[in-house]
Amino acid sequence: MLSGKRVLLIIGGGIAAYKALDLIRRLRDRGAEVVPVLTRAAEEFVTPLSASALAAQKVYRDLFDLTDEAEMGHIELSRAADLVVVAPATADLLGKMANGLANDLASTLLMATDKRVLVAPAMNVRMWEHPANQRNVATLRGDGVLFVGPNEGAMACGEFGPGRMSEVPEIVAAVEAALVAGPLAGRHIVVTSGPTHEPIDPVRYIANRSSGAQGTAIARALAALGADVTFVTGPADVAPPQGVHVVQIETARQMLDAVEAALPADAAVFAAAVADWRVANSAMSKMKKDGSGKAPALEFAENPDILATVSQMSDGRPALVVGFAAETDDVIAHASAKRLRKGCDWIVANDVSPATGIMGGAENAVTVISGEGAEEWPRMSKDQVAARLAAKIAEVLS
Ligand code: C5P
Repeated sequence: MLSGKRVLLIIGGGIAAYKALDLIRRLRDRGAEVVPVLTRAAEEFVTPLSASALAAQKVYRDLFDLTDEAEMGHIELSRAADLVVVAPATADLLGKMANGLANDLASTLLMATDKRVLVAPAMNVRMWEHPANQRNVATLRGDGVLFVGPNEGAMACGEFGPGRMSEVPEIVAAVEAALVAGPLAGRHIVVTSGPTHEPIDPVRYIANRSSGAQGTAIARALAALGADVTFVTGPADVAPPQGVHVVQIETARQMLDAVEAALPADAAVFAAAVADWRVANSAMSKMKKDGSGKAPALEFAENPDILATVSQMSDGRPALVVGFAAETDDVIAHASAKRLRKGCDWIVANDVSPATGIMGGAENAVTVISGEGAEEWPRMSKDQVAARLAAKIAEVLS
């Protein structure tokens, strides 16, 4: 239920705006107070009177409406909400949000708010897929903006593909997920994920086969329990989750810097497959064959161990530090020794020998090793491992 919650609903100018009227009703059915804001373009599709009647509220329409400023300034309007929802979120609104433009009431509220923002994009499939829009979406995800949809399907313009606004029940569910405080609400958790790339020269690098799937699932599961997640990721195969603060890095040293910049945190989960070594003599320009048949000699330097560094911090160490151990033999013995050596609280150990199909696969079979002993979990999907680990973290932190 959403009783006592106030949603600032920004209605953008698109054909899906008619669904926003139903959204007002459904959110009110769940007990929320809905304050509608219409962009000028939205008024071409729905009338302020309908929005106002359904919300049983005044509708806000224009930045320079002096009466509104006297009644409730735009800053206050944006802060008095518990959540800001943009539905439909047009390409124009997403573009303004991603680039910090504030030239009307809706975009100004979005810049001024200190609350979470949930957007329900709706636009033509070509517009959705356009690189400019995709760049904006990536920027907004990185800023921690929550997304619901768009869905794939037939569109009002006659085309087919992603771009349809999510259905009202899906948006209501996303609003509830964003507003109902989970056990990790107010907790900041840093999660590392993916491989690192260590440059040999400007075009070549040393990497590993980590897909980032498990780390991404963990970040998503922690965010679903209400945590404020900083997700520090190397170049992974899977897209970062929604609703987390994404920091993209390439090298181990950049990952350490990003983790240190993200602290303080209540917990840190180091799921990244960090390269142990970097090329000490990486070249500034592309290495060339010189015709002599002699291969270049690469020298290696040890990378910082992020897990060990954070685990052994004397000041500002997160209360719970979780590391991973991918092993191919004697998994428990090696992982237990690793826990002590690195100084972390838990080690999530898994057997990544090729026969298990875990590396790059959808499933995982882990043993969680803590000071209290080893807990063997049955083989399950990486999402299930993530959910169970997030629940275990919530037990400790709450
Ligand atoms: O030493 P090993 O790579 O087996 O340890 C794995 C654990 O240590 C993982 O949690 C990984 O994220 C972390 N790690 C790290 N920095 C490194 C190497 C590993 O944080 N340089």
